[in-house]
Amino acid sequence: MEEKELPFPYEFEELKPEEHELLKTFFGSAIHANYIRLGPKGYIVFKNYKKDAANIYNMPLRPTDVFVVSYQRSGTTWTQELVWLIENDLNYEKAAELPLTKRYPFLDRFMCFDENSKEEYIDTITKTEENFNREKFSELLTYLVTPVTPWLAAMPLTTRRFIKTHLPMSLLPPKLLDTAKTVYVARDPRDVAVSSYHHAKLIKMFNFQGEFKDFWKLFHRDLYMLTPYFEHVKEAWEKRDDPNMLFLFYEDLLKDLPACIGRVADFFGKQLNEEQINRLCDHLSFENFKNNESVNYENLRGAGVLAKGEAIIRKGKSGGWRAYFDDEMTQQAERWIEDNLRDTDLRFPSMNQ
Ligand code: A3P
Repeated sequence: MEEKELPFPYEFEELKPEEHELLKTFFGSAIHANYIRLGPKGYIVFKNYKKDAANIYNMPLRPTDVFVVSYQRSGTTWTQELVWLIENDLNYEKAAELPLTKRYPFLDRFMCFDENSKEEYIDTITKTEENFNREKFSELLTYLVTPVTPWLAAMPLTTRRFIKTHLPMSLLPPKLLDTAKTVYVARDPRDVAVSSYHHAKLIKMFNFQGEFKDFWKLFHRDLYMLTPYFEHVKEAWEKRDDPNMLFLFYEDLLKDLPACIGRVADFFGKQLNEEQINRLCDHLSFENFKNNESVNYENLRGAGVLAKGEAIIRKGKSGGWRAYFDDEMTQQAERWIEDNLRDTDLRFPSMNQ
């Protein structure tokens, strides 16, 4: 029997004029004019999200589905590759052949780009790109703005679906954990902020014009995509004991990758021997990952959309935020973290020292 569609339960709400003004200082209109808040937590999404929000919420699930969920820049790509390899019996050949983007439809990517902003994007890109290829870019943009729910629905039932998303749990199908497996990865928000700042500079279409301090101001005031950050993490943390949820920290992956591999393998009911774990650790090491064309997104350089000097696989360290925060920002961050951790037992491994 077909499941009945649920009504989409959340309302969209325009940002306040002063919030738009602040965003306008640092971003082009493709961002500042397209941000909108969603639901009781006020998650920042793009207006384009409206076109697939209900489809995502009502997405028919399969028991074999695997979701990798995170706030952006928390180690998603790393976790995706780890999960995929474990679930695919360490098929390194296939992992090399098929780029991660083909192995994992990215549920919310479509909302971040806007076909109507094409000329603005081109203006920004051509400021720094000498060999701009309009046709190649147009093709890429069409791909970027296309929702992936139809692609997912069309996948044969015999195919295990791996799904990447930065959406918080409350925007995903309510029965997700009753049906399919989810791996959530979280990271110290100060490192997420720094990594997101570099990401905002990397993707030329985002047209971010500012310093880290400016970015931080937006991020910790819940004025960056899919913030409020802590709400995002807490929603998943509250479900961490569900048998279909595995909650990981980026810092644990860094500190003890073999132990994390063991947890992922247990979660999926797989057993790996020492040799297999060692090879997987090597494959997932930062240096190998950075040079792995199947996961590093470097192919996007050809379309001219990535800024020089920035990369998706960037530093791969914990605590790098210290070099970016002055005393005032450090104290601000401490207060912000304390306020947000008061009502929860969520603790980031990096905060235990
Ligand atoms: P930094 O920008 O701090 O280096 P996401 O995949 O969610 O966008 O997360 C990206 C972050 O994970 C980046 O952080 C990136 O360098 C880091 N990362 C990716 N692969 C990694 C690996 N194999 N080892 C350590 N960190 C990795």
